[in-house]
Amino acid sequence: MKKILFFLLIFISTNAIADEGMWLPQLLGKLNESRMKSLGMKISAEDIYSINKGSLKDAIVSFGGFCTGEVISESGLVLTNHHCGFDAIQNHTTLQNNYLRDGFWSKSFEDELTNKGLFVTFIIRIDDVTQQVMKGITPAMSSAERQSMIDKNMLAAKSAASKTATQESFVRGFFEANQYYLFVTETFKDVRLVGAPPSSIGNFGKDTDNWVWPRHTGDFSMFRIYAGKNNEPAEYAADNVPYKPKKSLKVSLDGVAENDFTLIFGFPGRTQQYLPAVAVEQIRTVNDPAKIAVRDRALKIIDAYMRSDEQIKIMYASKYAGIQNAYKKWQGEVLGLTRVDAFAKKTNYEAEFMKRVNANAAWKNEYGHLLPAFERNYTALRPYGLARDYFSEVMSKIELFSIAMQLNSLANTYEKNGQKAYENRVGSIKERIMNTLEEYSPVVDKAVFTSLMEVYTIGTNPTFLSPEISARLNPNIDFVALADKTYADKNLYDSNWIATLLSKPAADAVKIINDNSTINFFSGLQENYSKMVQPELNAIQDSINTLQSIYMKAQMEVMKEKKFYPDANSTMRVSYGQVQGYTARDAVKFDYQTDFEGVMEKYIPGDYEFDVPLKMRELYAKKDYGQYARKDGKLPVCFIATNHTTGGNSGSPALDAYGNLIGLNFDRAWEGTMSDINYDSSICRNIMVDIRYVMFIVDKYADAQRLIKEIKFVHPKAKK
Ligand code: ARG
Ligand code: GLU
Repeated sequence: MKKILFFLLIFISTNAIADEGMWLPQLLGKLNESRMKSLGMKISAEDIYSINKGSLKDAIVSFGGFCTGEVISESGLVLTNHHCGFDAIQNHTTLQNNYLRDGFWSKSFEDELTNKGLFVTFIIRIDDVTQQVMKGITPAMSSAERQSMIDKNMLAAKSAASKTATQESFVRGFFEANQYYLFVTETFKDVRLVGAPPSSIGNFGKDTDNWVWPRHTGDFSMFRIYAGKNNEPAEYAADNVPYKPKKSLKVSLDGVAENDFTLIFGFPGRTQQYLPAVAVEQIRTVNDPAKIAVRDRALKIIDAYMRSDEQIKIMYASKYAGIQNAYKKWQGEVLGLTRVDAFAKKTNYEAEFMKRVNANAAWKNEYGHLLPAFERNYTALRPYGLARDYFSEVMSKIELFSIAMQLNSLANTYEKNGQKAYENRVGSIKERIMNTLEEYSPVVDKAVFTSLMEVYTIGTNPTFLSPEISARLNPNIDFVALADKTYADKNLYDSNWIATLLSKPAADAVKIINDNSTINFFSGLQENYSKMVQPELNAIQDSINTLQSIYMKAQMEVMKEKKFYPDANSTMRVSYGQVQGYTARDAVKFDYQTDFEGVMEKYIPGDYEFDVPLKMRELYAKKDYGQYARKDGKLPVCFIATNHTTGGNSGSPALDAYGNLIGLNFDRAWEGTMSDINYDSSICRNIMVDIRYVMFIVDKYADAQRLIKEIKFVHPKAKK
């Protein structure tokens, strides 16, 4: 009895009580439908994913490959986050038309703005091709032989896929290379900007509120898919027409109540739910803290300059936000892993796993070595992983190094592949460097360099520094003097000098690059890393990957009662849950919903993060919320639920029990960002903007009636 109880306890705490998981949409019928219905879902798995009829999946797109979007009208209108549309909005922003600051609302189809390089991808079909991909694989094969056979089979499965001329296909591995699925997709490359609120709505609360609940951000923007005359994908053309989708989402005006069913559809990027305890502990105590420490230095320096100089504030705002985003997430991750004691949870789970393995001769033989082998490999990895984190965090924050890196790789191209290869690359390298220099302050960069080279030197194990590097870089040197020397040569950050350099004949340019002492300093660091760290790091990582693949297979075989979902890999997934508040820490409980009142409570006139546009304050004063108000007359802004989400789920639709749109996913609550490694339904919450707030902004704030007319509003709760 005690045994059963113990087991039940582990089972409950390591497995999902509630509704952990990012599920494959084509398997919902088999794995999840009954649970989803018991949580309140009123539609069927077939309504969500079907290859025989239009289903909800036909309204979901991968937005540019980095976010999710959804079709919300019969004329191809797409909704995603403001931070997903940010680049597009920024690219159209000028001093005269400051769309970032003031928002943008197209008045007609002709007004909608083209975006070079932006695309959306629909998923036509997902097929299991595991058998084809595993064909011919034998236990006797070396891992290299195995991999080359798998690669060959994947290619064959991809080209055998039946598809139309406008469709594409790819095969992706799941469950650490234990299963394979074929995706048939259709990509549209003419995607135009339709509307965006000002940043003071779309990014209200900026970095202070990022990853934090309670939240009051209207994080949305609107685009439109354009197609060729026959409604098929086409390159941009002025006479392309709005795309007629197979399916578009209806918008619910009934909102959410506590415990309502929620479904998130989208393209989550990467999770690591099946790591051994030793790996999770290393992330928590070694890797996250190192990365946080480096970014902490960079952020403090940039912030100080941004506060004292308006020009620098504008130039560095988006860089700062980028550095801060992961920095804050990792802090939440460390906090959450510590708080739920993920290490103990995993250790208990492993004890149960080993008990079962040891009780079965075949398993013992096949899987008995796994956990000790992980232990050995992670111990070996530790110093190398740390060296990797310092190197990549430091080098990527120093902008002069990114310029040096571009030029160095151009010179390498010339030396390895000759003149022609050089000429093919020089244009794009020039463009990249010019982009960097457009928003560049040598004063800020030099201060970042001074501080980060110091932390790099102190943080990197001396055995990983070659004699040449140690001579130039040791803890006793004066980092200010080193910075003075490095930045004294102004050429590398002078765009005229760069332009002149890159217009010279290849051989002349390469000679100048090779003689530049800053570039040599950088390439020395890079070579040092690839000589002293990378070979061993890659070898250990390879053996960890092999172990992880076997461990995945083993868990699925041994822990039979557990339902497994594959880690996120940027493919289409569904996660389900319920609207719920949470207890953040002792005596601190959060409600599940925020209101417009909260926007006004946070309002700081003229502030960079918390300003509120005049028109919004007027609407607030008049309580002019139209059909978007709740029954109590208030205007909802954001809400949270237990859906398991990650980066890439930005812009994902939140759907109600009937499949109607109720919100737009854009973030997670800080205490639960460890859900990438160890989801825990007690504190993991995804954050969505209420669709009524989005529509209120479009209708009442922007008065974009042409867009409101396209949308089909419904009242699903009224009909009950
Ligand atoms: N934390 C969210 C995500 O990971 C939002 C990031 C954009 N917003 C910001 N304030 N930096 O993408
Ligand atoms: N903001 C994230 C994104 O870009 C979503 C939040 C998360 O990581 O869950 O995808």
